Order: sequence, then structure tokens, then C-alpha cells
Amino acid sequence: MKKILVTGGCGFIASCLIKKLLKNKSNKILNLDALKKQSVKESLDSINSNKNYNFKKIDISNFDKLHSTIVNFKPDLIYHLAAESHVDRSISAPNKFIISNFNGTLNILESLRRTKYWQKNIKFKMINVSTDEVYGSLSKQQKSFTEKNQYKPNSPYSSSKASSDLIARSYYKTFNIPIITSHCSNNYGPWQYPEKLIPVVILSCLLEKKIPIYGKGHNIRDWLYVEDHVDALIKISNSNKIGENYNIGGGKELTNLEIVNKICSIMDELVPKKYSHKKLISFVKDRLSHDFRYSVNIDKIKKELNYKPKNNFNDGLLKTVKWYVNNSNWLLNKIK
Ligand SMILES: NC(=O)c1ccc[n+]([C@@H]2O[C@H](COP(=O)([O-])OP(=O)(O)OC[C@H]3O[C@@H](n4cnc5c(N)ncnc54)[C@H](O)[C@@H]3O)[C@@H](O)[C@H]2O)c1
Repeated sequence: MKKILVTGGCGFIASCLIKKLLKNKSNKILNLDALKKQSVKESLDSINSNKNYNFKKIDISNFDKLHSTIVNFKPDLIYHLAAESHVDRSISAPNKFIISNFNGTLNILESLRRTKYWQKNIKFKMINVSTDEVYGSLSKQQKSFTEKNQYKPNSPYSSSKASSDLIARSYYKTFNIPIITSHCSNNYGPWQYPEKLIPVVILSCLLEKKIPIYGKGHNIRDWLYVEDHVDALIKISNSNKIGENYNIGGGKELTNLEIVNKICSIMDELVPKKYSHKKLISFVKDRLSHDFRYSVNIDKIKKELNYKPKNNFNDGLLKTVKWYVNNSNWLLNKIK
């Protein structure tokens, strides 16, 4: 049996990862999550009775509880995804982001440094799931971020993730803890808490409320289907590229306005009204220090790990919007 610890396993991305990992019957999963408001534990209801799956409510910023769990479970592999993940909330309450994202990561590393059990396990690895936002912002003309770009985080969220990556790097360099860090672009797919753009837009359409778009909607993001992200994380963890960093992206750049228009067109087909959902679009005051463009070059993971995202954006978006419409009760309950 391979013992796998997943932090933040009740979140949007890690819950998808856990479901995929459990398809392999030799994986035994322990999910640690603090069950914050943005968690989507319901997405794991289908696997609750799986004997290879266990859940513990633990806040990774609490060292003692985390440490005793690691000492008892002795994972062969750690996927670290627990984090405060929403830029807007990092602007209104930065402290929480440092506590979960930096201190939380430090606690995992420190627990590993103290226990040393993993030194006898040549296969042990920790996958540190970071973001493309650590590289800062690009203009339209600039080349996509490669793994060689300097860190230039601009928001409290991205700087908390950048600091977390740096402390992880130092524990790899100083204490030889085998870590690989990934930098993914904006994920989309089912079960995303409605604070992020795509579920917010769908929810607004369903409620016939204004769809808020920052500034003029010209900011650009690269979009990655969540299952493609999870496949990349599994590929990375199966590799022996200790100490490396990998960008993961979907290769589809869109302005926020373009993506909102696409969602509205799909909603017009799925839930027709007397008016087009585009009528609900409302431009609101821009986010403070709003990064203009993120774009990742994924040549390294393509070449070294033979990875390619499978989902075409338009198909992935259609699947996603259909899922939220079919699960609108879940979506509406999340904001109660
Ligand atoms: N969603 C994206 O587009 C995206 C893009 C790049 C990187 N990431 C990174 O991927 C990871 C997962 O993102 P997501 O979108 O699934 O996030 P999410 O907000 O959906 O889920 C995060 C999960 O972590 C848990 N959590 C938060 N703080 C915790 C703590 N102190 N202790 C234990 N659990 C805690 C929450 O309860 C939640 O279940 C994060 O590290 C994020 O920075 C996400």
C-alpha cells in the first residue's frame, strides 16, 4: 500500500485529486482539512465509505496536531494543497493567508525534519502545489512565465504562496527533504466554491443578479481544467525530479470579459430567458493591484514528463457550466 497524505483534501482541486487517486486500489489516503467555509466536503460523499480513505479535521497551522498525525501515518507521499486561495480575501484579511499558507507549509516541513522516518524511504516525496501568480504579472506582449522567471508576487495571496515555496526550497536544500513544486494556472471545473469567477458568474445568472466584472474585464488568465491539473500532479509525483519546479497550464488565455461572455452564451442555451444573460454584466471597481495577465509556458513538463492537458477549453467549459446548472441546489446552498 502507498500511504498518501493530502492536505486541503476537501477543497476544489484536492477533492478531485483524491477521487482520482482512489481509483488505484493500492493507494491509502489520509485527507487533512480544516473545513473552512470554502471547502467542498460534499464532493467526497461518494468515497466516504471507501476503506482506503480517511479524513481528519486538522488545521495545518496547528503544529502539534499535524505533527502527531504525520508521525502516526508516516506518509510515503504528501500532496500539499491546503491554503487560503482567494486573492480578494487576501486583500481584506492578509493575516489568515500568512498563517495557513506560510506557517502551515512550514509546519509540514518542520514535522518532516523532526521525524526523519522518510529518510529510509527512497520513494518519499512532497508535492508542493503552488500557483503561477508567484511570478507576478505580464503585459500582453511579454512571453509566458517559464520556471526560470523571478518571483514577483503582487498580492498577499501570491506572496504567501511565494514565501511558502521559498521555505520549501530551503528545506529541500538544507535538509534534503524531497520536494517538487508545481505552478498551475487558473483551474476550472465542478465543485468550485462560488467565490471564484466561473461559479460566481453561473450563480449570478441563475439568480438573475448582476455579474460583477473587475475594471473593464480586460485582465487575462490561462485556464486549466481541474482534471488535467490532477493528472499533472500525479505525473509529477511519479517522477524522480526532486527539487524541480513545473508549470502546469491549459494553454488557453482569455480575458475575463471573454470568459463571462462564453458562460452567458452557454446559459442562454441551457436556461433560456427573455433576455440574454450578457445583460447582467456589470463592471465594478477594479481589484487593488490587479495583475493584468498570467500565462504559463508548459514546455518543461511536456518535455520532461510527457504531459499534455487533455481537455479543450470550450468542451471543458460546457461540461462545467452544465454541471453547475444540474447541481444548482448545491451551488445555491453554498452561499446560504
Ligand atoms: N484554484 C486555482 O485556480 C488555483 C490555481 C493555482 C494554485 N492553486 C493552489 O491549489 C491549492 C488548492 O486550491 P483550491 O482552489 O482547491 O482551493 P480551495 O479554497 O477550494 O480549497 C482549499 C482547501 O484547503 C483547506 N484549508 C485552508 N486552510 C487550511 C489550513 N490552515 N489547514 C487545513 N486545511 C486548510 C480549506 O478548508 C479548503 O478545503 C491551493 O494551494 C492553491 O493555492 C489553486
